[in-house]
Order: sequence, then structure tokens, then C-alpha cells
Amino acid sequence: MNRAWSKSDWRAKPRVQMPTYTDQAALEAVETQLAKYPPLVFAGEARNLRARLAEVSVGKAFLLQGGDCAESFQEFSADSIRDTFRVMLQMAMVLTFGAKCPVVKVGRMAGQFAKPRSADTETIGGVELPSYRGDIINDIDFTAEARIPDPNRMLQAYTQAAASLNLLRAFSQGGYADIHRVHSWTLGFAEGDKAERYLDLANRISDALDFMTAAGINADTNHSLQTVEFFTSHEALLLEYEQALCRIDSTTGLPVAGSGHMLWIGDRTRQPDGAHVEFCKGVQNPIGLKCGPSITTDDLKRLIETLNPDNQPGRLTLINRFGAGKVGDHLPRLIQAVEAEGYKVVWSCDPMHGNTIKAASGYKTRPFESVLREVREFFEIHNAEGTIPGGVHFEMTGKDVTECTGGVRAVKDEDLSDRYHTACDPRLNASQSLELAFLVSEELSQRVQERRAAI
Ligand code: PEP
Ligand code: CO
Repeated sequence: MNRAWSKSDWRAKPRVQMPTYTDQAALEAVETQLAKYPPLVFAGEARNLRARLAEVSVGKAFLLQGGDCAESFQEFSADSIRDTFRVMLQMAMVLTFGAKCPVVKVGRMAGQFAKPRSADTETIGGVELPSYRGDIINDIDFTAEARIPDPNRMLQAYTQAAASLNLLRAFSQGGYADIHRVHSWTLGFAEGDKAERYLDLANRISDALDFMTAAGINADTNHSLQTVEFFTSHEALLLEYEQALCRIDSTTGLPVAGSGHMLWIGDRTRQPDGAHVEFCKGVQNPIGLKCGPSITTDDLKRLIETLNPDNQPGRLTLINRFGAGKVGDHLPRLIQAVEAEGYKVVWSCDPMHGNTIKAASGYKTRPFESVLREVREFFEIHNAEGTIPGGVHFEMTGKDVTECTGGVRAVKDEDLSDRYHTACDPRLNASQSLELAFLVSEELSQRVQERRAAI
């Protein structure tokens, strides 16, 4: 870690995808206020996550990262947090069964408010306005007024993140996540939604718990069965917000981002000399780096040297998002470069962002088939290279939305308008998420069998 680093150094670097605030005084007032507020997470938690991710990097744990593309002020409710948390618990259970190892659960939650956009403006009916950039920056309404970046939105985002995290901590520690309740997490499932397969698994888990109790292993009072560890993450895009919540960790004396446990750098903001890399390199939190088709092997090496100069396992997660059919063009060269240098990284697959298309109806969507295919390709390539497919990164919700086409309930193009609620990219719904978890679980259990056969 570079000790001469300062949390404001990013201001001297080229920045992209960030708003230009017109009212400087208002911006400074918000920054001053946020800097006085308590951090949302504590450094020890970020270090715990780094330790868990170090296990992921060697195949002793698996990473499940997921949540909204963009959290929104309007959709904020206890129910939506609970629903997403519950689907993640279910997915984690399915994955634990397949992988026979712990699943590290990281939500795209409690801070995922700022969005990079492919175009600076949006045109509807001949009217051109600045693009919506996430609720922490401007408003989704299509009016000139709504699209003006307003720094006060950072305060609302902070409040919502704090309330979300409070509820997530309560769910994780307060009994909701107790494994004995594995059956009750099924509530809210529609018929046919992989529910049978999940119920079968839940029954097997209950049997195992009964067996443990009968054998005198205290499954009823075992803390690790009654609670879960749940971490938060978001894209570190709005650096004024990140800087204002950056703190010095009293245990190590090192800077820590107080806005979430893990931060990631987007595919559009990963310039090696840019502002976003500059900020992220100085905080001790685990960092994710989105790697799309345009990343060069040299840039990747430079980014790894900058972001993880001490080659600490668990510090850096490479989140690949190439698109179905394109993984083979890019992942092998990146894996080979990483292996040749001996870099310790977590490889994670984001099968969402390379598979966004525009449906005939005009909605942005993602065909479930493409999502599945990218995940399969990711596993195949790691198997061929002998490296560890460490995790997955999904845009998903516990709600019954119709945003991605396909899946067991076969959402069609013409169904998209039924329940299309995302503030940005299309998300997997609860049943599609679970279906995907079963697929990943099968891939993982094959690896477990191969490992056993090799012993
Ligand atoms: C995202 O994760 O929402 C995102 C914008 O991803 P990417 O940077 O990979 O395009
Ligand atoms: Co997205």
C-alpha cells in the first residue's frame, strides 16, 4: 500500500463518467457534511472479506455477488431488500451443495447508486437531454430539470445505504438467515420455478441437521448455522462520495473506503492513469476490476501492479464480462498473462453486461440463454487452463420482474412490458436467478468429483 497516497489525489487525474456539478458551494457543503457522518462499514469487516476472497482465489470458497444494476430511491423498501437477500441465501445454499465449500455472499446493495453510461445524452421524440446517471446523481424523469446533477442526492443515497445495511445486518444476524429456516425461504416462489428442486435440497439439509443433532453435534445452537456473513459492494464511480466516506482505520493506520465492503472499478472507468484507479489503489478494501473485451493484456498487468502491488490474495477480483461466444477470444490470454506473472487474483464471471440487447419492443433485455452460455464458457476455459473459476456476478432481484427473456417460465419479448422496473439494466428475476445457481452448482460439483477422482 502506498503510504504517501491521499484520498483527494484522484482530483488531479483525468476523470470520465462523473457529473459536472454547477453549484460548487452546494457540492462542498454536501462533502463536508458526509465527511462528518459515520462510515457505513468498518475496516475489520473489509479485511474479513479480503480473507474470504483469498480462500476463493485458491478454490476453497466460491464468490456470489449480486443485486440491482442500480438501486433506486423510489423502489427502496424493506420487502425488496428482503426478497433479494432471500434469493441470495437460496442461491448460496444451492452453490454450497454443489461446490462443497463456503459461499462468500456479496450484495450489489447499500451503495450501488451511480451508473456509467454509454452515451452522454438520451433522445426521446426529438428531445435530447443529459443521460440519467443513477439516483445519487440525477433523476430518471425525462425533463431538463430532473437531469441536472444535484449533490444533495448524495445525502439521500447515504441515508438509504445506511438503512439498507442496517436491515441486512439484522437479517444476517437476527435469525432470518438461520439454516433451520431453509424451508421458509421458499415462500413467495411461484409454481414450477425450480421450487421442487430447491425443496428437495431443503429437505436434504433438514435431514442433515436432524442427523447432526441426533449425533450430539449441536446444530441448534451452532452460531455459524444460525447467522450468515453478508457483505456489500458497489461501483466506486462517484468519487466525491467515496472520498467523503474514506476514513483512516485505527487498527492499521491505513485508509479504508467507508461506503461499502468491496468496491469495483467499471469497464469504462479503468484507465490505468485515471481518477478511479487512483482512488481505489489507496484504500484497503477488496477491489473488483471489470474486464471487458477491450482490455489489453498490458493494461491488465499495469492495473494489477497498481491496484495490488503486494500481490495480496483476496485484494483483487477480476470480473470478466465479455459476452456469450466471446469468452474464448479474451479469457485465455488474460489468464495466461496472470499465471505467467504469478499474480494472485479471484476470477469472477459477470454474464450480464456483455449480453445486453435491444428487444423488438424497444426494451433493453438479456436473453437467459446467453447468460447461461457465458457462464458455461467461463467454466470450460478455466477447466482447460487449470485455473480457478472463483465466482459469479449477477444483476438480479428477488422480485418477480420480466426484464431478461427466457428461463423456465419463458419470459418472451412481448412480456417485457409487464413488470419492467429496473432503473438501468435488466435483472434476472428470482426464478431465473435460482435456475442459474443450479447450473453453476452442477459445474462446481463436476469439479469436486474430478478433484476427488484425482486424489
Ligand atoms: C455494472 O456492473 O452495472 C456495469 C456498468 O458494468 P460494466 O462496468 O462491466 O459495464
Ligand atoms: Co448494469
